[in-house]
Amino acid sequence: MTVRDAAERLKDEIVAWRRQIHANPEVGWHEVATGNLVAAELAKMGIEVTRVAKTGVLGVIRGTAPGKTVALRADMDALPITEANDVPYKSQNPGVMHACGHDGHTAMLLGAAKILSGMRDKLKGTVKLFFQPSEEIGGGALAFIETGALEGVEAILAIHLWPALPSGKVSLVAGPRMASADKLLIKVRGKAGHGSMPHLGVDAILAAAAITMNLQSIVSREVAPLEPAVVTIGRFTGGTTWNITCDEVELEGTTRCFSREIRKDFPATIERIIKSTAASYRAEAELAYLPISPPTINDPLVAKVAAGALTELYGEEAFGDLEKVMGGEDFAYYLERVPGAMVFVGVGNKEKQTDYSLHNERYNLDEDMLPVGAALHAQFALNFLKG
Ligand code: NI
Repeated sequence: MTVRDAAERLKDEIVAWRRQIHANPEVGWHEVATGNLVAAELAKMGIEVTRVAKTGVLGVIRGTAPGKTVALRADMDALPITEANDVPYKSQNPGVMHACGHDGHTAMLLGAAKILSGMRDKLKGTVKLFFQPSEEIGGGALAFIETGALEGVEAILAIHLWPALPSGKVSLVAGPRMASADKLLIKVRGKAGHGSMPHLGVDAILAAAAITMNLQSIVSREVAPLEPAVVTIGRFTGGTTWNITCDEVELEGTTRCFSREIRKDFPATIERIIKSTAASYRAEAELAYLPISPPTINDPLVAKVAAGALTELYGEEAFGDLEKVMGGEDFAYYLERVPGAMVFVGVGNKEKQTDYSLHNERYNLDEDMLPVGAALHAQFALNFLKG
């Protein structure tokens, strides 16, 4: 039986897993019921299971012949959103919802596990299944890596179900796919004084306003024009009342880019600009730069093997176009250590109302695509180990 047929045959089971997970969503680091379901299902398939990284699950499938090791990754966490869909499998956990498709990711990887566990005689090497916790609030990928799960892994694949891509289409390309996402916190310090005598105080609001403006010169004047990058200040807080010069302002913001080099330069560049700008207003500024996710950059060779698997399964017509995504994804941490690829599987279908954006309270999946993701995971693993 082909992998494609095996996946279609498993469709009802994959959909049932997805619905059970969807109805019982859990936010990051709380994926207890989800982890229990995953571990129990893997055990039923005769797969070695270890509970790792607090609420994560690691499955290992060993082929009958020795060979390389490949990893397949799904994330399991949900979001603090109240679901607005009226479906039989609606969230039973008030205020929590699978609005980013991680229910589908987990179900697809279980499907791939079932396909691969039935083909051990065709497996030359080892497949590791990463059911990772806490992608949305971060930390899950790094915690998984710290367990040593990546040791010996030569390639890793992840799939994100994507509503902006039409159902039936898959976006699979080499190079940058998702942006880095880091957080910055800036404290600007001045000196309080009477609003009528500003020369006796130091106005932190004026300095912070100038900093907010000058930070925009990073993208326009320090990053090469062909490189996409973003610096956003999203919060500006300070001051007490109308006739007092402000002594402290807090700014919070984010940076995004698709290049590891640009990302590495952000903290020093931002620090230089905020300190020199503050000094020119007799104020002081201090930066806390919090790395959250590196850019997600697909390895050309892994992308090629995955594209070969997709062609073998569904033909050339399965390929769809999707631009790079400015959002971040902690899968990028694996890609800093091991060659791999993030694949986008389209679930957007207006008639099925599965074209709401990620993190929307009406987000839903086109479940017809779940076997496609499961088949792609499995076929990729088989082909990578073969080649
Ligand atoms: Ni997601």
